[in-house]
Amino acid sequence: MKKILVLSDIHANYPALMAIQNHVQRETFHRIVNTGDFTVYGTYPNEVVQWFRERGNAICIVGNTDKRVLEILTGKELEKPKREEKRIMYFWTCENLLPENVRYLNSLPEQQGFTAGGLRIGLFHGDFDGLGNPLWPDSPESLFREWAAKFSYQVHVMGHIHVPFHRIVDGVHFLNPGSAGRPFDGDPRSSFAILTVSSGKITVEHFRIPYSVEEVTSGLKKNGLPDIYGEMYRTGRKLN
Ligand SMILES: [Fe+2]
Repeated sequence: MKKILVLSDIHANYPALMAIQNHVQRETFHRIVNTGDFTVYGTYPNEVVQWFRERGNAICIVGNTDKRVLEILTGKELEKPKREEKRIMYFWTCENLLPENVRYLNSLPEQQGFTAGGLRIGLFHGDFDGLGNPLWPDSPESLFREWAAKFSYQVHVMGHIHVPFHRIVDGVHFLNPGSAGRPFDGDPRSSFAILTVSSGKITVEHFRIPYSVEEVTSGLKKNGLPDIYGEMYRTGRKLN
């Protein structure tokens, strides 16, 4: 039996990652997966990146916010977001991310696959070129079939939309663990999943667990960052 801890969209929310670690401390994982967006808007990007760097069984890809941070660091102009309170979080991350963690993020691919328990598992952030929009829980089946036809994985693990779901279309699994550090679905608790492969059988369990939002907001306050984020963390809603 192979158990895989599935994480995504932590967005520098180390208190949420620690809550997950405590919750699963009795489990042994064959792999720990992160489908991107390690960074922005929390103030713990180094702690989050280092947590994965220290784990030999971690398998990770970059997300769109990570890519933006890396682009800014190479001198590229930040086009989006436009709102100043959001932009400042990217610039703060760029100024505070340690060189070894920048190197680590730079070393990660945008997609990758691995095998566990004889099954091929693909990792995607969700907004890659070629197929356009990410998959949502209520996307038409035809869209899921397009993904399945394009990639030969039996399990597709995705992030980016910050909404957890598990759908099976023509026997192919599509799993989004939701956002560990910045949920958008109205439930402020940290979201993650455990994927188990046993004798070729796939089981997916979703979890929602509370974490200390105050620790995240006090990190923002301590660094003189905008106080508009407290509401986002407390309600589990996107900041508009
Ligand atoms: Fe994200």
